[in-house]
Amino acid sequence: MKKITIAIDGFSSCGKSTMAKDLAREIGYIYIDSGAMYRAVTLYSIENGIFKDEHIDTDKLRNEIKDIHISFQLNPETGRPDTYLNGINAENKIRTMEVSSRVSPIATLDFVREAMVAQQQAMGKAKGIVMDGRDIGTTVFPDAELKIFVTASPEIRAQRRYDELKAKGQEASFDEILENVKQRDYIDQNREVSPLRKADDALLLDNSYMTISQQKEWLSEQFNKVCKA
Ligand code: DC
Repeated sequence: MKKITIAIDGFSSCGKSTMAKDLAREIGYIYIDSGAMYRAVTLYSIENGIFKDEHIDTDKLRNEIKDIHISFQLNPETGRPDTYLNGINAENKIRTMEVSSRVSPIATLDFVREAMVAQQQAMGKAKGIVMDGRDIGTTVFPDAELKIFVTASPEIRAQRRYDELKAKGQEASFDEILENVKQRDYIDQNREVSPLRKADDALLLDNSYMTISQQKEWLSEQFNKVCKA
């Protein structure tokens, strides 16, 4: 069967990565979490004195962006890919509230986006890829054969993130998470470079009241439709 490119975009914490990972595993495609790449750049910036307090040393980051190597390796325990920053597993570190609350301004920098988009396009050259993010169907793979735009209400998304952090034993406040979700929605939709928007040819999925298995089924159906067309 021919391999296609699948682009899944949408708001933060709307379950995009769960559905993208599950689909990739089911159909034997590579899964790439593009948000993890922006998170890894943010972690690098925090750890290397580039992002201090509220200030980003953009000159330093611009100089060092070529030295930031991000890769993914399958974790045999979880069956899912972990994010590596310069060869070190950074999967847990990139999911903390500290990184979550600082990633948006990093993701608005044009030279950061340029570098990440180039890496993402290289990863998808051979097709057979499911990538999720904010600008995959619009900027990274505008010719993707299957594009999905996922959304859910901010309260439902905040609750999901709260449950996720709790399950990992991390301290969390629902109100703080909700504020962070709303703030990120605003920045994602209003930034100058590649703002979050639905591609004209993307299918819209509001999963506020769907279970994970209902979403999975819906996505498999869309995949089969495109592949059989
Ligand atoms: O999906 P996520 O929450 O892990 O994404 C982290 C941040 O990266 C979020 O603020 C939006 C940004 N992002 C982006 O700008 N473009 C992408 N393709 C993916 C994520």
